[in-house]
Formats: sequence, structure tokens, C-alpha cells
Amino acid sequence: MPRRILIAAALLTFGTSMLRAGEPAGAPLPLSELMGHVMQRNAVQFWAWSATETDAAGTRSAEPRTAEQWEDAESDALTLRQLALVLKAPSYDPGDPRWARLASDLEAAASAAADAAERKDVAALIRTGEAVNDRCVACHLVFAPQLETKPPPVPL
Ligand code: HEC
Repeated sequence: MPRRILIAAALLTFGTSMLRAGEPAGAPLPLSELMGHVMQRNAVQFWAWSATETDAAGTRSAEPRTAEQWEDAESDALTLRQLALVLKAPSYDPGDPRWARLASDLEAAASAAADAAERKDVAALIRTGEAVNDRCVACHLVFAPQLETKPPPVPL
């Protein structure tokens, strides 16, 4: 399983325990809900296009094959790009100048991923998928480091 999928899965497990339902209409989602429900879900959907699965029958790649699948991969990358912009809204920006820069880094990585999908370039899609993950981790290390602590190497 690629590293980014593992991280995504770990975040998802950690995240859902803290989610609340029933936010009032018209108000922006709390950051934890935007992340846990919207950002994470879209990132997992985007990363799925560059995942590989290995079992007794061999290794299969989930890379886009049809024109429609490439369109979907591009759409997933563009959704992440748009979400990166949402993070810069005053309701989410904590006022630390690093926040906007880290959000812009994610925006740039997601834009590059959308370009890769538009070019139907599998290698670039994988590379930009890693870059997107790096941008998620970079921001968490600064603003929510508890999310990125390593699990123990063996089950305890
Ligand atoms: C600009 C900063 C920033 C970027 C970029 C960012 N995050 Fe976050 N993320 C946060 C912060 C801060 C929290 C902690 C929110 C809280 O608990 O209030 C968080 C929390 C989370 C959580 C836990 C949600 C929960 O239930 O509390 C998940 C899952 C998550 N992020 C996924 C992602 C993914 C996937 C990406 C990249 C595609 C990403 N984040 C990019 C700042 C960021």
C-alpha cells in the first residue's frame, strides 16, 4: 500500500472520532469537519487513481484508463485545488502567515496534479499525488502535529 494511502487511512481513523453532525446552515464548517469530511474524502478519491494493490494474483494499478476516468482524476485534483483556496478564507486562517503559504503550496500541488491528469501522464499523476500528500503533512506538522505522529512499528 503506498505511504500516502496509509497516512490518509490513519488520519481518517483519527479524524472521524472527533466529528460532529448538524452544523447550522449558512455557517462555514468548522475546520475539523472541513478536513475530516471534505478534504480527506476528496484526497482519498484523488489518491485512489495512483494506488496499486498487490495480492496472490499480482499487482494491479488503479491508474485512469478511459477518457472518462482521466476526466474524473482531473476533477478530483481540481476539487482539492479549490479546497486549498477555501482554507485561505478568514474563517479558517488563524492569522499566522505560514497558513496562507501552506495553503498556497497545496493549491500549487493540486494544480500540477490536474495538469498531469489533463496530459494523461501516469508518472506525473503519481508524483503530484505524493506532492499533494507532502503539502497536507507539512501544514499538519505546523498547525496540528498530533495528526502526524507515527504509529508504533508493531501492534502493542
Ligand atoms: C493550511 C493547513 C492545512 C492543510 C494544507 C491541510 N490541513 Fe488537514 N488539518 C489542518 C488543521 C489545523 C487540522 C486540525 C483541525 C482541528 O482539529 O480543529 C487538520 C485536520 C485534518 C484532519 C483531521 C480532521 C478531524 O476530524 O479533526 C484530516 C483527516 C485532515 N486534516 C486531512 C487533510 C488532507 C487529506 C489534506 C491535504 C489534501 C490536508 N488535511 C491539508 C490544517 C491543514
